[in-house]
Amino acid sequence: MAILFHESTKTFHLYNEQISYIFTVLKNGHLGQLYFGKRLRDRADFSHLLEFTPRPMAACTFEGDLSFSLEHIRQEYPIFGTGDIRYPAFSMERPNGSRIYDFTYQSHQITSGKPRLEGLPATYTESADEADTIAITLYDQVTDVQLLLTYTIFRDVSAIARSVRFICGKESAKLLQALSLCLDLPDDNYELLELTGTWSRERQVKFRPLESGVTSIHSMRGCSSSVYNPFIALKRPETTEGHGEVYGFSFVYSGNFLAQAEVDTFHTTRVLMGIHPQNFSVALQPGESFQTPECIMVYSEEGLNGMSQQYHTLYRTRLARGYWRDRPRPILINNWEATYFNFNEEKILEIAEKAKALGIELFVLDDGWFGKRNNDTTSLGDWFSNLEKLPNSVEGLAKKITDMGLKFGLWFEPEMVNKDSEMYRTHPDWVLGDPERNHCHGRNQYILDFSRKEVVDNLYDQMCKVLDCGHISYIKWDMNRSMSEVYAIGCPPEKQGTVMHNYILGVYDLYERLRTRYPELLFESCSSGGARFDPGLLYYAPQAWTSDNTDAAERLKIQYGTSMVYPISSIGAHVSAVPNHQTGRISPIETRANTAYFGTFGYELNVNTLTEEDQQKIKAQVAFMKENRALFQFGTFYRLQSPFTHEAAAWMVVSEDQKTALVGYYKPHAPANEPYERIRLMGLDPNLCYRVSLNDTLCGGDELMQYGLITSEHAVKSPDLNTVLGGDYRSRLYRLTAVE
Ligand code: GLA
Repeated sequence: MAILFHESTKTFHLYNEQISYIFTVLKNGHLGQLYFGKRLRDRADFSHLLEFTPRPMAACTFEGDLSFSLEHIRQEYPIFGTGDIRYPAFSMERPNGSRIYDFTYQSHQITSGKPRLEGLPATYTESADEADTIAITLYDQVTDVQLLLTYTIFRDVSAIARSVRFICGKESAKLLQALSLCLDLPDDNYELLELTGTWSRERQVKFRPLESGVTSIHSMRGCSSSVYNPFIALKRPETTEGHGEVYGFSFVYSGNFLAQAEVDTFHTTRVLMGIHPQNFSVALQPGESFQTPECIMVYSEEGLNGMSQQYHTLYRTRLARGYWRDRPRPILINNWEATYFNFNEEKILEIAEKAKALGIELFVLDDGWFGKRNNDTTSLGDWFSNLEKLPNSVEGLAKKITDMGLKFGLWFEPEMVNKDSEMYRTHPDWVLGDPERNHCHGRNQYILDFSRKEVVDNLYDQMCKVLDCGHISYIKWDMNRSMSEVYAIGCPPEKQGTVMHNYILGVYDLYERLRTRYPELLFESCSSGGARFDPGLLYYAPQAWTSDNTDAAERLKIQYGTSMVYPISSIGAHVSAVPNHQTGRISPIETRANTAYFGTFGYELNVNTLTEEDQQKIKAQVAFMKENRALFQFGTFYRLQSPFTHEAAAWMVVSEDQKTALVGYYKPHAPANEPYERIRLMGLDPNLCYRVSLNDTLCGGDELMQYGLITSEHAVKSPDLNTVLGGDYRSRLYRLTAVE
């Protein structure tokens, strides 16, 4: 890995063993993009890759020269007002109303490692030799504004992190758009992959071909959202899970975002990603600066799995942090679907006792333990015990549960308030919204202005009072509505445009303060299920609740989509009761578990109301997961067959030494007279021989990857505790063990 600068041609080459990223200083001083893709041999001059075709109507920079038009040259960080008429990467306004700036290369600095982004989540290095960083200073002579473009290339992943800093000069400026990334690609032969959905249908995999004009996804809801995840990929039409070229773009941020691909009439593609410009502005005074969050670009020629594995490695090991990063996650039971708001200490202790007997490790008390909360109209904001339900307080209950030998976890929704609460009665002005106008509610709740420090301080104090009891080792941090009326009372008019961003910084700040005070506390982020499942929060919470939808057939799709970017160790996945509370479907408990094993595993049901047989099955599942969770959560994950396109879906994890693998196979709907079926596996050692459980066969790794694993039901010789044969919602878990 290295970052080279060729002085003679002013060309920068960032490379590691897999990828090259090359750009140059153009003759007008702007940065021109030359190449991003598979590693190229270094050369001093790649300038012939730029396009200098004289075109009618083009805006040309130099008099007498018809070939230099920024409208047609690929760029690093395009600027409005200098000839490029495609979408720019930023927009800024001078005090005189002009939005024209002209940033030219001034200097650069190459360092080992990766500097932190103060106050923002970001990938990091643990030693200086893991990455190199280049910071390039661009300068606008007229206003003295500096732009700092930062690129980090990692040694061991084919990824580049990018962010931008705006440093105000001698006059003030109003930043109206500040995206984190632009990538101009030389053609448009791509399909755009997006992860789209809604509540209970998060991160569905969708492809659409790029067309001329703009293809885009976004969030303007104040959270990254379940409608679109802050991620897109551009893949070649022929690219599959296992083969072919793909570029991934992922935004390390939890608020509004825009991701778009613009195809121009000459078939080049411009990718832009960053904070959504809608409802965004930053008033900068001389000397002040604004730092954008970072984007992570990945290139893979090994298909979508290749891309995902790069994200998994980077996000699991160099975005997630702290005590839990490398530790297998506790098997939990959550009482939400077991009791909803209707519980008391006795009922909770009964569930916890049974859970303990079945081997479960962590009990999570969900919504309803605080204030007067018996339904969703009241008490958000009042984070002290509901003594009617819990006469010994939540701290007393936590102690009883930890005395049983279980860990105890607790639900909070810190960012929200109900009007019926002490918090609202004392601080009605802490709610976001224009006091002269109606405020929309969502689930009867209103949003606290987390851009205000005193609000965040209040929540910190309230939460610490509970957590200081010392018996709480896990927090589920929920956020159950989108922002609608964004107006911060008391905030000066020129700063209103920064409220949505500062709100997210407030969320990060509270997370960071709690993490620092309780370093071993395990956070699971949540937002009406998975509406804020994004890389930003992974920096604080190493796992996230993936969806309120725990129906196995639906979960397959949700987890399949989620795995495009996010590591298995981050994917909260539980076995819940049947009929399923979201779909009404009845599926076997084995199939529910076979899906949930590929995640941070747990249960979301009342174990006491299950049959003795199901309780025994849970005991066996918990024991099985304990034995295998390190492999599930930290092995190399491969998607094999998509539930979006096939009747049978499959995925697998492989151990680092390639000697063990677990293959999950799922068939939600059973056809009659089924065809012969096999699924080609991935990631095995072709030279090893594997014992395949269930089928009782010995197969070569090469054979399993070339011919495939025979999944026709007749091949199953020894079903085990994870096997469901026949009928709808069947599933199996094959174990592959290398033999000498
Ligand atoms: C959200 C979460 C659920 C549960 C409820 C509690 O919907 O996604 O898991 O915690 O809130 O109100």
